[in-house]
Amino acid sequence: MSKVQRIGVFTSGGDAPGMNAAVRAVVRACIYYKKTPFGIYRGYDGMISGEIKELNSRSVSNIIQRGGTILKSARSAEFRTPEGRKKAYESLKKHGIDAFVAIGGDGTFRGAQIFSQEYDIPVVGLPGTIDNDLNGTDFTIGYDTAVNTAASAIDKVRDTASSHNRLFFIEVMGRHSGQIAVRSSIAAGAEATMIPEEPMSIDDLIRILERGADHKKSSSLVVVAEGGETGRSINIAKEVQERFSHYDTKVTILGHLLRGGSPTVADRVLASQLGVSAVEYLIDGKTGGMLGVVNNQIKFTPFDQATQNVHNLDPEMMRIAAILSV
Ligand code: F6P
Repeated sequence: MSKVQRIGVFTSGGDAPGMNAAVRAVVRACIYYKKTPFGIYRGYDGMISGEIKELNSRSVSNIIQRGGTILKSARSAEFRTPEGRKKAYESLKKHGIDAFVAIGGDGTFRGAQIFSQEYDIPVVGLPGTIDNDLNGTDFTIGYDTAVNTAASAIDKVRDTASSHNRLFFIEVMGRHSGQIAVRSSIAAGAEATMIPEEPMSIDDLIRILERGADHKKSSSLVVVAEGGETGRSINIAKEVQERFSHYDTKVTILGHLLRGGSPTVADRVLASQLGVSAVEYLIDGKTGGMLGVVNNQIKFTPFDQATQNVHNLDPEMMRIAAILSV
């Protein structure tokens, strides 16, 4: 058992639906275990500038269903400097904080790893990102909501595509990951999916679209992950329109829409489970890694493994997407 008494929590990097549920769970678990919770606002930037406030059970009332994060988020260049991290540590010490929970993605965890090595302060990370691009968890907090948002948006695009016999390219976020793209593409029945993990040439894409036209498809949908090497949807659509004019071609970029919205039940429950576990792990003296859920079991993964060479996209997903698009 550790001597941890005053636990900080913050959200960092791109916000994700479910972050509020995770913050709520950390705060409520602290109170349950008679620890004192502190909110650290605006991620590492706020830690450096001392935007830190003691929280109580009522501070996190009525937020489980809300997208975004009441603690705000930021990407902090200053925290990447030793001077910045020293200021951050002094802020924590000024509030007597002796451990913290970092809710974010790979950049957040890389920062936490360096920080906890430089300063003897326990930290546990929770995977808060829509990209689902971390090792050590089946799903990250926010991913399920983002996929549902993408799928329902693609359904709406399908309505107008089929009304006008059009070809639509729908671009989704995910940074270097195609996870949002492939799952939403299957769910919404798109004809093709372009992702970083399995690059598709324009020639290959046109062959798929020609086959669809031969099969009397009056419209088609292509889901494009923003980080694919073939390029961004606008440029792909332009080249396809020039070389394959069977359809009138349009583009819809979902962008930050995928970061908002009320979290799904799956994300709320995942966030709640991980938030409670984060406090329990800190109380048990654990530090230096991310908690996730793998095959319904809580798993602790050291930060360097959680963020290393992540290629966790199941090739089976692309295989069935291809079969179903005929
Ligand atoms: O990492 C989450 C994410 O939404 C990525 O999918 C996206 O590429 C990036 O953040 C956008 O970052 P920002 O909100 O800073 O523009």
